[in-house]
Amino acid sequence: MEAVPSSAGAEPPVHVAIIMDGNGRWAKARGLPRTAGHHRGADAVRRALTGAGELGISYLTLYGFSSENWKRPAAEVDDLMGLLRIYLQREIAELHASGVRLRVIGERERLGEDLVRLISAAEQRTVDNTRLNLTVALSYGGRGEIALAARRIAAEVKAGRLTPDEIDEPLFAKYLLTAGIPDPDLVIRTSGEKRISNFLLWQSAYAELVFMDRLWPDFTKEDLQDAIREFQCRDRRYGASR
Ligand code: IPE
Ligand code: IPE
Ligand code: MG
Repeated sequence: MEAVPSSAGAEPPVHVAIIMDGNGRWAKARGLPRTAGHHRGADAVRRALTGAGELGISYLTLYGFSSENWKRPAAEVDDLMGLLRIYLQREIAELHASGVRLRVIGERERLGEDLVRLISAAEQRTVDNTRLNLTVALSYGGRGEIALAARRIAAEVKAGRLTPDEIDEPLFAKYLLTAGIPDPDLVIRTSGEKRISNFLLWQSAYAELVFMDRLWPDFTKEDLQDAIREFQCRDRRYGASR
């Protein structure tokens, strides 16, 4: 008999991914510069991380900066990179102490040497932690990631280490930046926008999507809980008829 895909039921999602959107609108509504929204957004990251830990989520992926966000004014990009630097310097000890493993996915080389060094050091320091897997997507784009996987696989074929017949979905996934990380069960986007904006395109094939109007700097543990509750009411069918 064929296995019946389980419904979400009361099970919490293993992997929650969040498109953290709305910092600029949060600031604009208060007559503040966009950077003020990004700074308050960093506080929301802390709340999401603590909340995820308390709610028993094993994998949390946060979309922090897309490949397309490089189009923004240099001052805004610099401010975001500065925030990231401060976050990595100040919070890594605490992340490590609380059992968080950090991974960063994206076009790392575009981030600048000092950030790349900080990221690599943070990843190495936390590599053995298992309580919560935090992945931060920086200079990340799903299409770019898929194209990169295709280039890597093509190189393997050219070198004679793989044959075209061996290229199937599980193999392809091993060449993505998320190799070893389960697919997201739940993708949340804040700010009221209802789009994916190039986030985890391959991995979200069967993710449940929850869009909420809350602007990212206002995001709380309760919002995370609400999204999880909504997820638990969904019936995941994966294409099967039931
Ligand atoms: C999300 O907030 C943060 C990043 C994309 C870096 P935005 O800066 O996109 O805020 P809005 O969408 O303009 O309100
Ligand atoms: C998506 O938000 C990227 C992040 C949240 C990091 P954007 O604000 O860049 O997306 P669009 O431009 O509204 O699609
Ligand atoms: Mg936005």
